[in-house]
Amino acid sequence: MNYTLDTFRAEVRQAIAATGRVPEALIEVTAPKPNIPADLAFPAFRAAKELGLNPAQLAQELAAAITPAGDSLIGQVTVAGPFLNFALNPHKLAPAVLDEVHHLGKRYGHDDTGQGQTVLVEYSSPNVAKRMHVGHIRTTIIGQALFNIIQALGYKTISDNHLGDWGKQFGVTLLAIEHEGKPAGAGELAVAQLEEIYAKYSNLIKEDPALDEAARAWSLRLEQGDPQARELWQWCVGLTMSYISPLYARLGIHFDTVHGESFYEDKMQPVIDAALEQGIAYRDAKGAVVVEELEKLPTFLLQRSDSGTLYLTRDAATVAFREAEYQPTKIVYVVDARQELHFRQVFALAKRLGYAAGAELIHISFGVVNDQHGEPLSTRKGNMIFLQALLDEAHARARAVVDKTSPEFSEAERERIAEAVGMGAVIYNDLYQDSKRSITIDWDKMLALEGNSAPYIQYMHARCRSILRKAGEEEAGLGRSHTADQAEYAALLIHPAEQGVIKQLAKLPEAVREAGARYATFVIAEWCYETARALAAFYRDCPVLKAEAERRAGRLYLVAATAQALENGLGLLGIKAPERM
Ligand code: ARG
Repeated sequence: MNYTLDTFRAEVRQAIAATGRVPEALIEVTAPKPNIPADLAFPAFRAAKELGLNPAQLAQELAAAITPAGDSLIGQVTVAGPFLNFALNPHKLAPAVLDEVHHLGKRYGHDDTGQGQTVLVEYSSPNVAKRMHVGHIRTTIIGQALFNIIQALGYKTISDNHLGDWGKQFGVTLLAIEHEGKPAGAGELAVAQLEEIYAKYSNLIKEDPALDEAARAWSLRLEQGDPQARELWQWCVGLTMSYISPLYARLGIHFDTVHGESFYEDKMQPVIDAALEQGIAYRDAKGAVVVEELEKLPTFLLQRSDSGTLYLTRDAATVAFREAEYQPTKIVYVVDARQELHFRQVFALAKRLGYAAGAELIHISFGVVNDQHGEPLSTRKGNMIFLQALLDEAHARARAVVDKTSPEFSEAERERIAEAVGMGAVIYNDLYQDSKRSITIDWDKMLALEGNSAPYIQYMHARCRSILRKAGEEEAGLGRSHTADQAEYAALLIHPAEQGVIKQLAKLPEAVREAGARYATFVIAEWCYETARALAAFYRDCPVLKAEAERRAGRLYLVAATAQALENGLGLLGIKAPERM
């Protein structure tokens, strides 16, 4: 799509081309150096060199030859050494950007660059009969945000939850249930009990060959479709999903498909056959199917000597299925950094087997989660945080903040806001920096109403909504509405603080494109934070409701656009924007 800053860039290029001094191919525009009061720069070095001229002189001559038309987005054109700098025309910028936001509404910032292409994003993928811990929370939150961003760019998207619902370990789980019975109750507690008896029997089978044999037998029965084994296994899947689904809902997580590992159970033989046929794998003396020296990667198995398949075999079958089913241009896996080697092996195998001829396979990994003392959370150390507890604590702490800031709100409304703020804080903490970096669960920072946090941005958004409500009430009291002609006064918005906000709004589309291209949620988070800060400066310097009529109308137009854009930015991250706080 063509947004205001795209038009500006095109106008700058045209203006340079129109001088007839620089061939099109040599016109490269960039961001100006910091502290230069301009919005685009043309560094004249390369063109000057090609043309055999002095760069500073060329810049001077171009500046002299360019006179932007009155209705152009180009304002002042200045020269600093070899740089030709172009400032935006403040009178034109405000109406152009604000009209765009008002016109596109919830779609402002969205794009069509991905049209005609399909991207599959796989995230969350927790394990059945296990609680979701902070590592899974990271893939869930990062994955959903990347999905939202990619979708906003116009790609056809599929979100898939590759549930860990298959494998040898289920033999032990079923054995444990046979001996200990199904845990009572539901939710995280019941799943925790399953984990506990699983751990107990994992230890017992190490010492007791008969029990080990029994676990194997359960595993085999499950694979062969024995009804009792299937029923128990299905019960585990159901219990896990009914525990996770409400938590997903709280975080705004949604999947188009939940094709767990078991879905690929009958799709692996072709992978094994093809690898053997093409000489990528061989069958060893004991009957195992081995892949050796594939792109210098460590050796791995596709089938064990007892004919069982492996996690990796299922992942290879998954690529084949996705390719055949969706013909995606990209498959994005949002998974823990510890699985990096696994994915290098899967991707190399899939490419060699010709499964992903048209698809780029991308592993997006992420760093660990630390507690507030900087200690990595770990089940072994006993400081692990599980999903349910994390969300409940976020809610409770947010509720305490809301009770303090807005005691006048009704109980129900404070609950609603606490949920939006609590979930927002958890989500933002996962997304505001490069996902490769580790994050810290530091509640005070996460819930701070000042600084780089979700509540601060949500609060700045709510302030916009509250001003708009008050303006509406005042105008209704006077029996008139200004909303209709607000747009006419947008050209008055040339105060630096007004322009600061408007330039931020203008940058959202570019932020979305960059976030999508780099799989970088922090680009959107930074945009949200910078916008909230620009807004704070605007509120400090520019009265809205008390301004004289025309200025007030223009500023209300700006405030409404900012509320919309902030809502959109937060929405891409999966964060709600409450109307009041
Ligand atoms: N279930 C796995 C785990 O919890 C993650 C699955 C990642 N996705 C995949 N296609 N292998 O470790």
